[in-house]
Amino acid sequence: MSLDTTAANRLMTHFDDHDSVWLFGYGSLIWKADFDYLERRPASIRGWTRRFWQGSHDHRGTPDAPGRVVTLVPEDGAICHGMAYRIPPSVFGPLDIREKNGYLRVITPMAFEDAATDAPAQAEGVVYLAGEDNAAYLGPAAEVEIARQIAASHGPSGPNRDYLLNLAAALRELGFDDAHVFELERAVLEIA
Ligand code: SIN
Repeated sequence: MSLDTTAANRLMTHFDDHDSVWLFGYGSLIWKADFDYLERRPASIRGWTRRFWQGSHDHRGTPDAPGRVVTLVPEDGAICHGMAYRIPPSVFGPLDIREKNGYLRVITPMAFEDAATDAPAQAEGVVYLAGEDNAAYLGPAAEVEIARQIAASHGPSGPNRDYLLNLAAALRELGFDDAHVFELERAVLEIA
């Protein structure tokens, strides 16, 4: 698959005639919501786990020295916590460009985690997923290796380390545990 997924994502017209769509964010979309949204709610999706297994050539690294950012990896029984945003479908235009380095829009059920409200407890929506067949995929490595790569990488959006530290801080603030992210945070802070 080509490195740039923008054209492939434009073919995903499933929600085009909807007034709004729920987008589930699990990485930078949790802490960097630089797009218009109508509301946001903490949410989770089932059967996926967050991993720093995706290469970043365009935001947190370069083509010659990619950084590492998160994608979702299938895992039976896993629950990935994040933030859901209700967006107008037009927002997919800029989001497809932001997520173009291997991420494809995939339809997913999600459960909201602010169950005390009167709003529905579940919805079908979209998640940007970078599968193992994408050209920027790096896959698993020892956590110490991943931490070293993150500590050393920089890209047009800034240091790779900031991506990790911002994600860890956002998950902590939301009250979500993620051993992989918190272990990498610890290792990167130790390198510093
Ligand atoms: C996401 O945050 O949902 C996708 C990955 C990223 O942009 O960091």
